[in-house]
Amino acid sequence: MARKNQTLGEFIIENQEDFKYSSGELSRLLNSIRLAAKVVNHEVNKAGLVDITGAAGDTNIQGEDQQKLDVYANEVFIRTLTDRNIVCGIASEEEDNFIVINSQDENHQNKYVVLMDPLDGSSNIDVNVSVGTIFSIFRRITPVGTPVELKDFLQKGDKQVAAGYVVYGTSTMLVYTTGKGVNGFTLNPALGSWYLSHPNMTFPEDGQIYSVNEGNYLDFPEGIKKYIKYCQAEEDNRPYTSRYIGSLVSDFHRNMIKGGIYMYPKSTKNPEGKLRLLYECSPIAFIAEQANGKSSDGFTRTMEVEPTELHQRVPFICGSKKMVEKAEEFMRNFKE
Ligand code: AHG
Ligand code: MN
Ligand code: MN
Repeated sequence: MARKNQTLGEFIIENQEDFKYSSGELSRLLNSIRLAAKVVNHEVNKAGLVDITGAAGDTNIQGEDQQKLDVYANEVFIRTLTDRNIVCGIASEEEDNFIVINSQDENHQNKYVVLMDPLDGSSNIDVNVSVGTIFSIFRRITPVGTPVELKDFLQKGDKQVAAGYVVYGTSTMLVYTTGKGVNGFTLNPALGSWYLSHPNMTFPEDGQIYSVNEGNYLDFPEGIKKYIKYCQAEEDNRPYTSRYIGSLVSDFHRNMIKGGIYMYPKSTKNPEGKLRLLYECSPIAFIAEQANGKSSDGFTRTMEVEPTELHQRVPFICGSKKMVEKAEEFMRNFKE
């Protein structure tokens, strides 16, 4: 049972048995993620000092090159997971190819692969706006003890065993699911511990916030244009409020708490949409569904989209159930 003020470490141990493949391995994996998240959080918090210590690409006092935070976050997560010998493969938005771990050691028994967006919304770093990390965990499908293959990563969202995100915001939170609801933990920076602050998170069934980059309006599919006009109409409980941070994690997090819809449709500029199926949409969709929300590309449930390549993009509509259903209705009725 989720108890408020429980630490993340206690929560992981207490709920280990809930997990259908319970072997302790997933718990150790989540422990590594929470550790890496703390390291990245520490660095993200210092980003405001960049004007004093030098911008990314500059050379610091020690003569070392300053790293971009998304590269830094990528390295921290990969190193933390690799050093602890806890996964058999990693794929990241920041890497061209997936990483095979332990391929030399025939005795390694690790069963899980991790896919991640190490720093989401990184363009917001320079202006002191929230960013995040997104992760998705699958059980490998190739035999244990052999090097992982592309097909271990190209799995439908439905096959995820866990997914989560970290939001580095006014406070830092780690939110995750193992398929038994969604729980959110807030970092106490003085103690370095995560406390269960948001047990059993759920989307309000309906909401009043819509989040979309309206600068692309003229390029959007007709169904999305019509739905945006519906959001703006003065009828019933509308117009809705428009809120768009430009960090998927933060926009999603707010909408889950307050009730809302996030959309990144396809456009002439981004004919497949912009967001990545495996690093962004699929994990966020798993969390959304576990929180009684909904997610699709307008027609197909995100969790059922069959991945064909690692860095695949998809249109993404995600949020409160009734709002997503309404947007889908517009997509069906105004097909181009
Ligand atoms: P990333 O920083 O990982 O590249 O992701 C940015 C994504 C997402 O977080 C955000 O919602 C979206 O791109 C914003 O895109 P636009 O600036 O095109 O609206
Ligand atoms: Mn991203
Ligand atoms: Mn990113």
